[in-house]
Amino acid sequence: MAQTTTKPKNQKDSLTVAQSYGTVSNRPLALDHRVRLASTNNLNQVLADTMTLRDLYKKHHWQVSGAMFYQLHLLYDKHFGEQALVVDAVAERIQTLGGVAIAMAPDVAEMTRIARPPRDREHVALQLFRLLQGHELIIAESRELARAAAAEGDDGTSDLLISDVLRLNELQVWFVSEQLGGSGIADEDVAAAQLALGRVVLRQSRTPAGGRIRLPVQRKKRSVIAGQPARSRPLPQSPSQSPHLR
Ligand SMILES: [Fe+2]
Repeated sequence: MAQTTTKPKNQKDSLTVAQSYGTVSNRPLALDHRVRLASTNNLNQVLADTMTLRDLYKKHHWQVSGAMFYQLHLLYDKHFGEQALVVDAVAERIQTLGGVAIAMAPDVAEMTRIARPPRDREHVALQLFRLLQGHELIIAESRELARAAAAEGDDGTSDLLISDVLRLNELQVWFVSEQLGGSGIADEDVAAAQLALGRVVLRQSRTPAGGRIRLPVQRKKRSVIAGQPARSRPLPQSPSQSPHLR
């Protein structure tokens, strides 16, 4: 049966903290404390990554340029709104299970596994690449964590991860992929990826947790029209091949 919330570490905390982050309070949900704690921890990872992807859409919505400006400006904001709904659903599932959802940008930045983009206004091909990369990361983790939750009897969490998180991300990948002509990065079409991302190379970097990832960087300043970069650039990894997605 469920256990009670872990007490704050000291008396001072008890004056301001209703519940410590990383704990789960009692809930008559017929779910063991251990299961609810694991689910809330996993859901907070999905939450951090989803909030990052949501904000990436808004960044791109503001900063998009080129011949595809209007349609992408609208598409990015539509996806932003849909991701915002998922953020709320995941956060409220964490609270439902008795946990504490992360909320603030600094905490999201520390936790997310999605690579941080620069403040610069990036070209369309790189915008799309980043979005597909973020989507694939969330798709992979939502499938994995849904199976883990189901195996422990937390069917509500499993359903949320499949019905809300996974399916939306798969759907949005379709829409984003088609912006690359339907035969781009997501299809692992080498020629199309070279064409779309010809000016992008990857560099080794470290995550806040100490892991290694490869982040896309622009090789040099560009003067070409967005979406039409030079063909003779090194081939970057596709989202599917990115090591931090495995
Ligand atoms: Fe807007």
